[in-house]
This record gives sequence, structure tokens and C-alpha cells, in this order.
Amino acid sequence: MNILIMGASGTIGQAVIDRMGSDHDMIRAGRQGQDIQVDMTSPESIESMFERLDRIDAVVVAAGGAAFKPLSELTPADNDTAINSKLKGQVNTVLIGQHHLSDGGSFTLTTGVMVDDPIACGASASMANGGVETFVRSASFELGRGLRLNSVNPCVLDESWSKYGKFFPGFETVPAARVGMAYQKSIEGCQTGQIFYVR
Ligand SMILES: NC(=O)c1ccc[n+]([C@@H]2O[C@H](COP(=O)([O-])OP(=O)(O)OC[C@H]3O[C@@H](n4cnc5c(N)ncnc54)[C@H](OP(=O)(O)O)[C@@H]3O)[C@@H](O)[C@H]2O)c1
Repeated sequence: MNILIMGASGTIGQAVIDRMGSDHDMIRAGRQGQDIQVDMTSPESIESMFERLDRIDAVVVAAGGAAFKPLSELTPADNDTAINSKLKGQVNTVLIGQHHLSDGGSFTLTTGVMVDDPIACGASASMANGGVETFVRSASFELGRGLRLNSVNPCVLDESWSKYGKFFPGFETVPAARVGMAYQKSIEGCQTGQIFYVR
């Protein structure tokens, strides 16, 4: 398969490449993408990326930012980061990408543990993740040509603890290798409309 990974240079993107890179052709995307550049906050950039690519059989979005702030300090502008990136960036990738993906192809989006297990300073990211998961569950049934749509919802990765750990007191971390397996299940398996939890 030709697998497009938006966020390929990140911790999760690398986990997907480590798991699947020996069996498939991986196309690495990001703002400084190794193979192709894309800014997921821009629908025009997403459209241009798909137009520049040949056959794509699977898309992984392992990217999406959000402001982590106490609610009393969170401004509408701060909240727009999660809306434009995590939420609209992932949803727009499906809306645009559905017209470019090969028959029977798949989208795998990324959410996270805070959807179901809230943390302080996480309201904005949780909001976006919740929107993504709701979109996955309902949009998956309307995709044509055998296209599938799932999301992976990991807890904090072992490899990301130094970056995010202070926001997740008492949470158990998960190894990147197990997170990579959840993406493999979504891409190589048959399920759609699913949230694959990694806990
Ligand atoms: N790490 C964890 O523990 C964890 C757990 C659950 C969920 N998540 C979520 O999973 C996603 C990836 O996490 P991560 O830890 O792997 O992130 P990361 O290591 O910070 O990497 C982020 C990746 O996204 C790309 N990116 C950032 N902004 C982009 C944009 N506007 N357009 C296109 N690509 C963009 C970056 O590449 P460029 O700089 O080249 O654009 C990079 O490849 C995030 O949404 C995060 O919230 C992470």
C-alpha cells in the first residue's frame, strides 16, 4: 500500500512508520514534510497535497495541536488552535481526501485519552478530540467506494512523557510500539467507524 502519514516526523508518526514501513510505501507529510509538505490547518494546502500525489491507499493523521491552559485563561483565540488543527484539520483531510483515495482505502485519525478521562488544562483538546470521534462514528457509514474511517485513541506515550507528563498525573503511559499496532489494525484490517483505544 501507499500510506500517507501527516505528522510523519512526530512521535506517533514515527511509531506508525516503525510498525509498517517495511511492508508498505510510506509518504511522509508535514509542514516540513520529508516527502510532501502540507499544513493541515489549510483546506487549500490539503487539497494541493492530494492533487500532487499519485495513488494513495491509506491516510494517517498523526498531527494536531491545541492550547493547554486553565479554563479561566483560555481565550477564543487559544481555542481556535484546536478547532483549526486537531478538529478541522483531521475532518477536512477526510472531506477532501475521500475524493482522492483508492477504492477500499482507509483514513486513520488520532484522538487521545482525555476524551474520556479529563485533565486540567485539557478542555480545548478534549473538545476537538470529541468532535473527531463523533465524526468518525457517523461519517464512516457514508463513505463510498469501500473507504473506511477509524481513529486511534492512545494514552500518553512513554516516549512523550517528558513533554506531556505534567498534565497527566497518575496516568499510565503506553509504548509507541503498541500505538503503532493500533494504526496497523485500522489500516490493514476491515473495521470502520471504530475508535481503537491504546491503554
Ligand atoms: N504523544 C502522545 O503521547 C499523544 C497521545 C495521544 C494523542 N496524541 C496526539 O497525537 C498527535 C501527534 O502527537 P505526537 O506526540 O506524535 O506529536 P509531535 O511529536 O509533536 O509531532 C507532530 C507532528 O505533526 C506535524 N504537524 C504539526 N502541525 C502540523 C500542521 N499544521 N500540518 C501538518 N502537520 C503538522 C509535525 O511536523 P511539522 O512540524 O513538519 O509540521 C510533526 O510531524 C497530536 O494531535 C497529539 O495531541 C499524542
